[in-house]
Amino acid sequence: KNIAILMGGYSSEYQISLKSGNVVYQHLSRNVYNLYRIHIFRDKWVYVDDHDEEFPVDRHDFSISPGKEKINFDGVFIAIHGSPGEDGYLQAYLDLLNIPHTSCGFYQAALTFNKRDCLSVLKAYDIPCATSFYLNKGDEISTSDIVARVGMPCFVKANKAGSSFGVSKVHREEDLMQAIEYSFKEDDEIIIESFLDGTEVSVGVIRYRGETTVLPITEIVSENDFFDYNAKYMGQSQEITPARLPDEMTAKVSEIAKKVYEILKLSGFSRSEYIIVNDVPHLLEINTIPGMTAESILPQQAGVAGISLGDLFDNAVAEALK
Ligand code: DAL
Ligand code: MG
Repeated sequence: KNIAILMGGYSSEYQISLKSGNVVYQHLSRNVYNLYRIHIFRDKWVYVDDHDEEFPVDRHDFSISPGKEKINFDGVFIAIHGSPGEDGYLQAYLDLLNIPHTSCGFYQAALTFNKRDCLSVLKAYDIPCATSFYLNKGDEISTSDIVARVGMPCFVKANKAGSSFGVSKVHREEDLMQAIEYSFKEDDEIIIESFLDGTEVSVGVIRYRGETTVLPITEIVSENDFFDYNAKYMGQSQEITPARLPDEMTAKVSEIAKKVYEILKLSGFSRSEYIIVNDVPHLLEINTIPGMTAESILPQQAGVAGISLGDLFDNAVAEALK
């Protein structure tokens, strides 16, 4: 079977995606699948061979013709974080072409990538979240109103972004406007949330051999003010798997993460983040194309569960092709 691994993307996360995609490329079984790396950038969609030679993708049927024969794909592994790989566009495109992919559905991807809309749905199911409100570019804002609604410190986040791009923790009212402008560089919508003072944990939920499976939970201890880009990728954090939680709390967080996966009808990979405050896990967000780099959390969790990278990725493709 011919499997395309999609990497790159149009967002600030493209470099992380290239790393994730190459890890997938290195570990998927070559005796089962023919693997093709596809770079998706705004100005080009290309197949990149092992000599880094590039061949254009025919976007009408998502095929490539690096030699005399045209190659069509039996399945696609989406390793693009952010747009257009995590927000539903590529999922919908591949669905229309009847090409199975490892991601959740296009609607689930679009919903989960929009923090505001996803949290609004889950609040209706009584999933605890931070107090928050939203701003669109051009909205009138008074910083004293913001402080009255979410208190200090607070988080200012781009609504649709990942890897902490466009995220600031704000401690003083006079720093709010700068943080808001910074978030608006990533997205036209922003979300402002109250600071939750507690233990941060990350929970991977995947479809594994036909079952919805919760992976061992990771506790995040950031050396920085929050789990920012440098904490995520430059080693400025400790990630402890399994998390040092009492058994009842491990069970509670796992149950909520599985419930969220089921409420939203997810499939494929997911990694959701929580802050536990007074024994209550509060959901921050869900990532449906979580990082697969050497530093990334979900591959570490799979390892602790005894699932090798090869098994993790082969399983994702096998689930997609079912
Ligand atoms: N957005 C990054 C890649 C993650 O969630 O792991
Ligand atoms: Mg994220």
